[in-house]
Amino acid sequence: MARRGSVRSKCYPQPWPQHGGEGDALLARLGISDNDALTDLSASLNPLGPPDWLGDWLARSLPLLTHYPDRQQQEAREALAHHHALDAAQVRVTNGGAEAIHLIAQAYRSKRALVIEPTFGEYARACELNGMEVRRLSLVGDDFRLDVDGLCQALVAVDVVFLCRPNNPTGTLVSCQAIETLLEHAEAANTLLVVDEAFIEFHGEQASLVDWVRRGAPLVLLRSLTKFYCLPGLRLGYLLAQPERVQQISGYQVAWSLNALAAALIPHLLNDQGYVERTLNWVSGERSRVGKNLRRLGYVVPEAHANFVLCRPGGVASPARGEAMLRQLVKHGFIARHTHTFAGLDGSWVRLALGLPATNDAWLAALAGAAE
Ligand SMILES: Cc1ncc(COP(=O)(O)O)c(C=O)c1O
Repeated sequence: MARRGSVRSKCYPQPWPQHGGEGDALLARLGISDNDALTDLSASLNPLGPPDWLGDWLARSLPLLTHYPDRQQQEAREALAHHHALDAAQVRVTNGGAEAIHLIAQAYRSKRALVIEPTFGEYARACELNGMEVRRLSLVGDDFRLDVDGLCQALVAVDVVFLCRPNNPTGTLVSCQAIETLLEHAEAANTLLVVDEAFIEFHGEQASLVDWVRRGAPLVLLRSLTKFYCLPGLRLGYLLAQPERVQQISGYQVAWSLNALAAALIPHLLNDQGYVERTLNWVSGERSRVGKNLRRLGYVVPEAHANFVLCRPGGVASPARGEAMLRQLVKHGFIARHTHTFAGLDGSWVRLALGLPATNDAWLAALAGAAE
Protein backbone atom coordinates (compact mmCIF):
# COMPACT_ATOMS: atom_id res chain seq x y z
CA MET A 1 0.00 0.00 0.00
CA ALA A 2 1.32 3.42 -0.92
CA ARG A 3 1.70 6.07 1.74
CA ARG A 4 1.92 9.84 1.94
CA GLY A 5 4.23 12.15 3.78
CA SER A 6 7.20 14.40 3.43
CA VAL A 7 9.51 15.15 0.50
CA ARG A 8 12.22 12.58 -0.25
CA SER A 9 14.64 14.63 -2.31
CA LYS A 10 17.60 12.24 -2.26
CA CYS A 11 16.25 9.86 -4.91
CA TYR A 12 14.37 12.43 -7.05
CA PRO A 13 13.66 12.18 -9.96
CA GLN A 14 12.70 8.53 -10.39
CA PRO A 15 11.12 7.34 -13.66
CA TRP A 16 7.34 7.57 -14.01
CA PRO A 17 5.87 4.08 -13.38
CA GLN A 18 4.71 2.29 -16.55
CA HIS A 19 1.35 1.07 -15.24
CA GLY A 20 -1.33 1.91 -12.68
CA GLY A 21 -1.23 0.15 -9.31
CA GLU A 22 2.38 1.20 -8.72
CA GLY A 23 1.71 3.77 -6.01
CA ASP A 24 5.10 3.57 -4.32
CA ALA A 25 6.88 4.21 -7.62
CA LEU A 26 4.60 7.19 -8.30
CA LEU A 27 5.32 8.66 -4.87
CA ALA A 28 9.04 8.11 -5.43
CA ARG A 29 8.78 10.00 -8.72
CA LEU A 30 6.96 12.85 -6.97
CA GLY A 31 9.61 12.84 -4.26
CA ILE A 32 7.10 12.05 -1.52
CA SER A 33 8.06 9.62 1.22
CA ASP A 34 5.74 7.01 2.59
CA ASN A 35 4.18 7.32 5.99
CA ASP A 36 0.39 7.45 5.61
CA ALA A 37 -2.03 5.05 3.90
CA LEU A 38 -3.35 6.26 0.55
CA THR A 39 -6.33 5.08 -1.52
CA ASP A 40 -5.07 3.84 -4.86
CA LEU A 41 -7.25 4.99 -7.76
CA SER A 42 -4.59 4.34 -10.39
CA ALA A 43 -5.46 0.75 -11.34
CA SER A 44 -9.20 0.96 -12.24
CA LEU A 45 -10.43 -1.99 -10.17
CA ASN A 46 -13.99 -2.59 -9.01
CA PRO A 47 -14.25 -0.91 -5.56
CA LEU A 48 -16.85 -3.49 -4.45
CA GLY A 49 -13.90 -5.88 -4.13
CA PRO A 50 -14.07 -9.54 -5.20
CA PRO A 51 -17.35 -11.45 -4.57
CA ASP A 52 -17.93 -12.22 -0.83
CA TRP A 53 -17.85 -15.98 -1.30
CA LEU A 54 -14.36 -15.96 -2.85
CA GLY A 55 -12.34 -16.45 0.35
CA ASP A 56 -14.24 -19.61 1.37
CA TRP A 57 -14.17 -20.91 -2.17
CA LEU A 58 -10.39 -20.44 -2.37
CA ALA A 59 -9.84 -22.19 0.96
CA ARG A 60 -11.97 -25.16 -0.18
CA SER A 61 -10.22 -25.28 -3.55
CA LEU A 62 -6.64 -25.41 -2.34
CA PRO A 63 -6.32 -29.17 -3.10
CA LEU A 64 -6.44 -28.17 -6.79
CA LEU A 65 -2.91 -26.87 -6.38
CA THR A 66 -1.53 -30.37 -5.96
CA HIS A 67 -2.35 -31.23 -9.60
CA TYR A 68 -1.21 -29.74 -12.88
CA PRO A 69 -3.92 -27.58 -14.44
CA ASP A 70 -5.86 -28.96 -17.42
CA ARG A 71 -3.87 -27.82 -20.45
CA GLN A 72 -7.02 -28.05 -22.57
CA GLN A 73 -8.85 -25.70 -20.12
CA GLN A 74 -11.97 -27.70 -20.90
CA GLU A 75 -14.23 -26.65 -18.03
CA ALA A 76 -13.24 -22.98 -18.15
CA ARG A 77 -13.58 -22.74 -21.94
CA GLU A 78 -16.98 -24.44 -21.88
CA ALA A 79 -18.24 -22.08 -19.18
CA LEU A 80 -17.09 -19.03 -21.16
CA ALA A 81 -18.45 -20.43 -24.43
CA HIS A 82 -21.84 -20.99 -22.78
CA HIS A 83 -21.76 -17.47 -21.31
CA HIS A 84 -21.08 -15.88 -24.71
CA ALA A 85 -23.15 -18.33 -26.83
CA LEU A 86 -20.03 -19.45 -28.70
CA ASP A 87 -18.36 -22.80 -29.27
CA ALA A 88 -15.61 -23.85 -26.82
CA ALA A 89 -13.24 -23.94 -29.82
CA GLN A 90 -13.69 -20.16 -30.06
CA VAL A 91 -12.31 -19.53 -26.57
CA ARG A 92 -8.80 -19.57 -25.08
CA VAL A 93 -8.24 -18.62 -21.46
CA THR A 94 -5.07 -16.67 -20.71
CA ASN A 95 -2.96 -15.57 -17.78
CA GLY A 96 -4.69 -12.18 -17.64
CA GLY A 97 -5.67 -10.13 -20.66
CA ALA A 98 -2.02 -9.12 -20.92
CA GLU A 99 -0.96 -12.63 -21.94
CA ALA A 100 -3.51 -12.63 -24.76
CA ILE A 101 -1.96 -9.42 -26.17
CA HIS A 102 1.51 -10.97 -26.11
CA LEU A 103 0.28 -14.22 -27.70
CA ILE A 104 -1.17 -12.29 -30.62
CA ALA A 105 2.08 -10.40 -31.09
CA GLN A 106 3.94 -13.73 -31.08
CA ALA A 107 1.56 -15.17 -33.66
CA TYR A 108 2.16 -12.10 -35.88
CA ARG A 109 5.90 -11.94 -35.25
CA SER A 110 7.82 -9.65 -37.67
CA LYS A 111 4.58 -8.41 -39.28
CA ARG A 112 3.06 -4.92 -39.13
CA ALA A 113 0.75 -3.60 -36.43
CA LEU A 114 -1.25 -0.42 -35.98
CA VAL A 115 -2.05 1.00 -32.55
CA ILE A 116 -4.45 3.86 -31.91
CA GLU A 117 -3.04 6.17 -29.28
CA PRO A 118 -3.20 7.12 -26.52
CA THR A 119 -3.96 3.59 -25.39
CA PHE A 120 -2.80 0.71 -23.21
CA GLY A 121 0.98 0.50 -23.64
CA GLU A 122 1.23 -3.30 -23.81
CA TYR A 123 0.05 -3.45 -27.46
CA ALA A 124 3.07 -1.53 -28.76
CA ARG A 125 5.41 -3.18 -26.24
CA ALA A 126 4.31 -6.73 -27.16
CA CYS A 127 4.59 -5.94 -30.88
CA GLU A 128 8.05 -4.42 -30.51
CA LEU A 129 9.25 -7.35 -28.41
CA ASN A 130 8.20 -9.60 -31.27
CA GLY A 131 9.97 -7.66 -33.98
CA MET A 132 6.79 -6.14 -35.41
CA GLU A 133 6.76 -2.80 -37.14
CA VAL A 134 4.45 -0.56 -35.10
CA ARG A 135 2.53 2.18 -36.86
CA ARG A 136 0.49 4.68 -34.90
CA LEU A 137 -2.72 6.62 -35.41
CA SER A 138 -3.74 9.38 -32.99
CA LEU A 139 -7.15 9.93 -31.50
CA VAL A 140 -8.29 13.49 -32.20
CA GLY A 141 -9.04 16.42 -29.90
CA ASP A 142 -9.92 16.67 -26.24
CA ASP A 143 -12.75 14.20 -26.80
CA PHE A 144 -10.32 11.63 -28.31
CA ARG A 145 -12.37 10.94 -31.46
CA LEU A 146 -11.39 8.12 -33.77
CA ASP A 147 -10.73 9.19 -37.36
CA VAL A 148 -12.58 6.25 -38.93
CA ASP A 149 -11.66 7.18 -42.53
CA GLY A 150 -8.00 7.59 -41.53
CA LEU A 151 -8.06 4.19 -39.85
CA CYS A 152 -9.73 2.53 -42.86
CA GLN A 153 -6.89 3.86 -45.02
CA ALA A 154 -4.14 2.96 -42.56
CA LEU A 155 -5.30 -0.59 -41.88
CA VAL A 156 -4.71 -1.61 -45.48
CA ALA A 157 -0.94 -1.36 -44.91
CA VAL A 158 -0.76 -3.48 -41.74
CA ASP A 159 -1.50 -7.06 -40.65
CA VAL A 160 -3.07 -6.37 -37.25
CA VAL A 161 -4.89 -3.41 -35.70
CA PHE A 162 -5.20 -3.11 -31.91
CA LEU A 163 -8.26 -1.17 -30.76
CA CYS A 164 -9.20 -0.80 -27.11
CA ARG A 165 -12.96 -0.48 -26.45
CA PRO A 166 -13.66 1.25 -24.06
CA ASN A 167 -10.23 2.74 -24.46
CA ASN A 168 -7.71 2.93 -21.66
CA PRO A 169 -6.93 5.71 -20.63
CA THR A 170 -9.55 7.88 -22.38
CA GLY A 171 -12.65 5.84 -21.45
CA THR A 172 -14.08 6.51 -24.92
CA LEU A 173 -16.06 3.88 -26.86
CA VAL A 174 -15.87 3.52 -30.65
CA SER A 175 -19.44 3.19 -32.00
CA CYS A 176 -20.79 -0.08 -33.44
CA GLN A 177 -21.37 1.73 -36.72
CA ALA A 178 -17.67 2.64 -36.93
CA ILE A 179 -16.77 -0.97 -36.06
CA GLU A 180 -18.94 -2.22 -38.91
CA THR A 181 -17.11 0.06 -41.36
CA LEU A 182 -13.72 -0.97 -39.97
CA LEU A 183 -14.55 -4.66 -40.21
CA GLU A 184 -15.62 -4.29 -43.85
CA HIS A 185 -12.31 -2.63 -44.70
CA ALA A 186 -10.31 -5.06 -42.57
CA GLU A 187 -11.89 -8.05 -44.28
CA ALA A 188 -11.19 -6.62 -47.73
CA ALA A 189 -7.55 -5.90 -46.78
CA ASN A 190 -7.05 -9.23 -44.98
CA THR A 191 -6.16 -7.32 -41.81
CA LEU A 192 -6.99 -8.70 -38.38
CA LEU A 193 -8.85 -6.43 -35.98
CA VAL A 194 -8.04 -7.09 -32.32
CA VAL A 195 -10.48 -5.38 -29.97
CA ASP A 196 -9.56 -5.29 -26.30
CA GLU A 197 -12.73 -5.38 -24.19
CA ALA A 198 -10.97 -5.48 -20.81
CA PHE A 199 -13.39 -2.82 -19.48
CA ILE A 200 -16.54 -3.58 -21.52
CA GLU A 201 -18.51 -5.12 -18.65
CA PHE A 202 -18.47 -1.75 -16.87
CA HIS A 203 -20.32 -0.33 -19.84
CA GLY A 204 -22.60 -3.37 -20.16
CA GLU A 205 -22.08 -6.73 -21.86
CA GLN A 206 -24.62 -5.76 -24.57
CA ALA A 207 -21.99 -3.36 -26.00
CA SER A 208 -19.52 -6.21 -26.61
CA LEU A 209 -18.62 -7.16 -30.19
CA VAL A 210 -19.11 -10.84 -29.39
CA ASP A 211 -21.99 -10.97 -31.86
CA TRP A 212 -19.50 -10.22 -34.66
CA VAL A 213 -17.39 -13.18 -33.51
CA ARG A 214 -20.55 -15.33 -33.73
CA ARG A 215 -20.99 -14.08 -37.30
CA GLY A 216 -17.44 -15.04 -38.31
CA ALA A 217 -15.88 -11.55 -38.60
CA PRO A 218 -12.04 -11.20 -38.89
CA LEU A 219 -11.90 -10.22 -35.27
CA VAL A 220 -10.20 -11.27 -32.03
CA LEU A 221 -11.79 -10.06 -28.82
CA LEU A 222 -9.62 -9.78 -25.73
CA ARG A 223 -11.31 -9.98 -22.38
CA SER A 224 -10.16 -9.67 -18.78
CA LEU A 225 -11.86 -10.66 -15.54
CA THR A 226 -9.26 -8.68 -13.61
CA LYS A 227 -10.89 -5.27 -13.41
CA PHE A 228 -14.53 -6.21 -13.08
CA TYR A 229 -14.04 -8.83 -10.35
CA CYS A 230 -11.16 -6.96 -8.68
CA LEU A 231 -8.77 -9.90 -9.05
CA PRO A 232 -5.56 -8.49 -10.52
CA GLY A 233 -3.42 -10.94 -8.53
CA LEU A 234 -5.12 -14.06 -9.86
CA ARG A 235 -4.49 -13.40 -13.59
CA LEU A 236 -7.65 -14.16 -15.54
CA GLY A 237 -8.25 -13.21 -19.15
CA TYR A 238 -9.38 -14.86 -22.37
CA LEU A 239 -9.71 -14.35 -26.09
CA LEU A 240 -12.60 -15.05 -28.42
CA ALA A 241 -12.22 -15.63 -32.18
CA GLN A 242 -12.82 -18.13 -34.96
CA PRO A 243 -11.62 -21.66 -34.08
CA GLU A 244 -8.69 -21.68 -36.56
CA ARG A 245 -7.47 -18.34 -35.23
CA VAL A 246 -7.83 -19.47 -31.62
CA GLN A 247 -5.83 -22.59 -32.41
CA GLN A 248 -3.10 -20.60 -34.18
CA ILE A 249 -2.72 -18.09 -31.30
CA SER A 250 -2.96 -20.76 -28.58
CA GLY A 251 0.00 -22.53 -30.13
CA TYR A 252 2.23 -19.87 -28.57
CA GLN A 253 0.89 -20.26 -25.04
CA VAL A 254 3.18 -21.66 -22.37
CA ALA A 255 1.91 -25.01 -21.09
CA TRP A 256 -0.13 -24.63 -17.84
CA SER A 257 -0.10 -20.85 -18.18
CA LEU A 258 -3.59 -20.70 -16.71
CA ASN A 259 -3.37 -21.76 -13.06
CA ALA A 260 -5.80 -24.34 -11.67
CA LEU A 261 -7.51 -22.00 -9.19
CA ALA A 262 -8.16 -19.34 -11.81
CA ALA A 263 -9.50 -21.94 -14.24
CA ALA A 264 -11.83 -23.52 -11.68
CA LEU A 265 -13.10 -20.12 -10.53
CA ILE A 266 -14.40 -18.98 -13.91
CA PRO A 267 -17.79 -20.80 -13.87
CA HIS A 268 -18.47 -19.48 -10.36
CA LEU A 269 -17.72 -15.89 -11.33
CA LEU A 270 -19.95 -16.15 -14.39
CA ASN A 271 -22.81 -17.53 -12.28
CA ASP A 272 -22.82 -14.61 -9.86
CA GLN A 273 -25.39 -12.40 -11.56
CA GLY A 274 -26.01 -10.45 -8.34
CA TYR A 275 -22.42 -9.20 -8.37
CA VAL A 276 -22.82 -8.00 -11.97
CA GLU A 277 -26.01 -6.13 -11.09
CA ARG A 278 -24.52 -4.50 -8.00
CA THR A 279 -21.49 -3.37 -10.02
CA LEU A 280 -23.56 -1.95 -12.87
CA ASN A 281 -25.86 -0.10 -10.46
CA TRP A 282 -22.87 1.48 -8.77
CA VAL A 283 -20.85 2.31 -11.90
CA SER A 284 -23.56 3.79 -14.10
CA GLY A 285 -24.64 6.25 -11.39
CA GLU A 286 -21.13 7.27 -10.35
CA ARG A 287 -19.79 7.61 -13.88
CA SER A 288 -22.30 10.27 -14.88
CA ARG A 289 -22.33 11.99 -11.47
CA VAL A 290 -18.54 12.27 -11.28
CA GLY A 291 -18.27 13.41 -14.92
CA LYS A 292 -20.85 16.16 -14.33
CA ASN A 293 -19.16 17.30 -11.13
CA LEU A 294 -15.72 17.44 -12.72
CA ARG A 295 -17.04 19.52 -15.63
CA ARG A 296 -18.82 21.82 -13.20
CA LEU A 297 -15.46 22.31 -11.44
CA GLY A 298 -13.90 23.38 -14.75
CA TYR A 299 -12.15 20.14 -15.76
CA VAL A 300 -12.10 18.80 -19.31
CA VAL A 301 -13.50 15.24 -19.32
CA PRO A 302 -14.01 13.04 -22.39
CA GLU A 303 -17.19 10.95 -22.23
CA ALA A 304 -16.42 7.94 -20.05
CA HIS A 305 -17.74 4.42 -20.71
CA ALA A 306 -15.72 2.37 -18.25
CA ASN A 307 -15.00 2.61 -14.51
CA PHE A 308 -12.52 5.47 -14.70
CA VAL A 309 -12.39 9.06 -15.87
CA LEU A 310 -9.64 10.93 -17.64
CA CYS A 311 -9.53 14.64 -16.89
CA ARG A 312 -7.37 17.75 -17.00
CA PRO A 313 -7.82 21.27 -15.71
CA GLY A 314 -9.61 23.57 -18.21
CA GLY A 315 -7.64 26.18 -20.15
CA VAL A 316 -4.20 25.48 -21.52
CA ALA A 317 -3.08 21.87 -21.08
CA SER A 318 0.29 21.47 -19.40
CA PRO A 319 2.24 18.64 -17.74
CA ALA A 320 2.94 20.94 -14.78
CA ARG A 321 -0.79 21.35 -14.15
CA GLY A 322 -1.25 17.58 -14.43
CA GLU A 323 1.49 17.06 -11.86
CA ALA A 324 -0.10 19.67 -9.57
CA MET A 325 -3.32 17.61 -9.70
CA LEU A 326 -1.43 14.44 -8.76
CA ARG A 327 0.17 16.22 -5.81
CA GLN A 328 -3.13 17.74 -4.68
CA LEU A 329 -4.70 14.28 -4.72
CA VAL A 330 -1.81 12.73 -2.76
CA LYS A 331 -2.14 15.51 -0.19
CA HIS A 332 -5.75 14.43 0.32
CA GLY A 333 -4.96 10.71 0.42
CA PHE A 334 -5.39 9.53 -3.19
CA ILE A 335 -3.10 8.05 -5.83
CA ALA A 336 -4.20 8.76 -9.41
CA ARG A 337 -2.72 7.47 -12.68
CA HIS A 338 -0.31 9.90 -14.32
CA THR A 339 -0.27 9.96 -18.14
CA HIS A 340 3.42 10.49 -18.91
CA THR A 341 3.83 6.90 -20.13
CA PHE A 342 0.87 6.88 -22.54
CA ALA A 343 2.23 7.64 -26.02
CA GLY A 344 0.35 10.69 -27.29
CA LEU A 345 -0.17 12.17 -23.80
CA ASP A 346 2.39 14.21 -21.89
CA GLY A 347 1.18 14.17 -18.30
CA SER A 348 -1.34 17.00 -18.69
CA TRP A 349 -4.19 14.54 -18.13
CA VAL A 350 -4.82 12.40 -15.04
CA ARG A 351 -6.85 9.18 -14.88
CA LEU A 352 -8.88 8.29 -11.79
CA ALA A 353 -10.71 5.03 -11.08
CA LEU A 354 -14.26 5.52 -9.87
CA GLY A 355 -14.68 4.55 -6.25
CA LEU A 356 -17.72 4.28 -4.01
CA PRO A 357 -19.67 7.58 -3.71
CA ALA A 358 -17.95 8.74 -0.49
CA THR A 359 -14.50 8.16 -2.02
CA ASN A 360 -15.45 10.03 -5.18
CA ASP A 361 -16.84 12.92 -3.14
CA ALA A 362 -13.58 13.11 -1.20
CA TRP A 363 -11.34 13.32 -4.27
CA LEU A 364 -13.73 15.69 -6.05
CA ALA A 365 -13.48 17.96 -3.01
CA ALA A 366 -9.69 17.72 -3.21
CA LEU A 367 -9.82 18.82 -6.87
CA ALA A 368 -12.31 21.64 -6.29
CA GLY A 369 -10.49 24.93 -6.57
CA ALA A 370 -7.46 23.31 -8.25
CA ALA A 371 -9.02 23.52 -11.75
CA GLU A 372 -8.12 27.10 -12.71
C1 LIG B 1 -6.91 -2.19 -21.82
C2 LIG B 1 -6.27 -3.25 -20.99
N1 LIG B 1 -6.18 -4.48 -21.47
C3 LIG B 1 -5.61 -5.47 -20.76
C4 LIG B 1 -5.09 -5.22 -19.51
C5 LIG B 1 -4.43 -6.33 -18.77
O1 LIG B 1 -5.36 -6.91 -17.91
P1 LIG B 1 -4.99 -8.17 -17.05
O2 LIG B 1 -4.74 -7.71 -15.67
O3 LIG B 1 -6.20 -9.06 -17.15
O4 LIG B 1 -3.78 -8.81 -17.66
C6 LIG B 1 -5.15 -3.94 -18.98
C7 LIG B 1 -4.59 -3.66 -17.64
O5 LIG B 1 -4.51 -2.55 -17.20
C8 LIG B 1 -5.76 -2.93 -19.73
O6 LIG B 1 -5.85 -1.68 -19.27
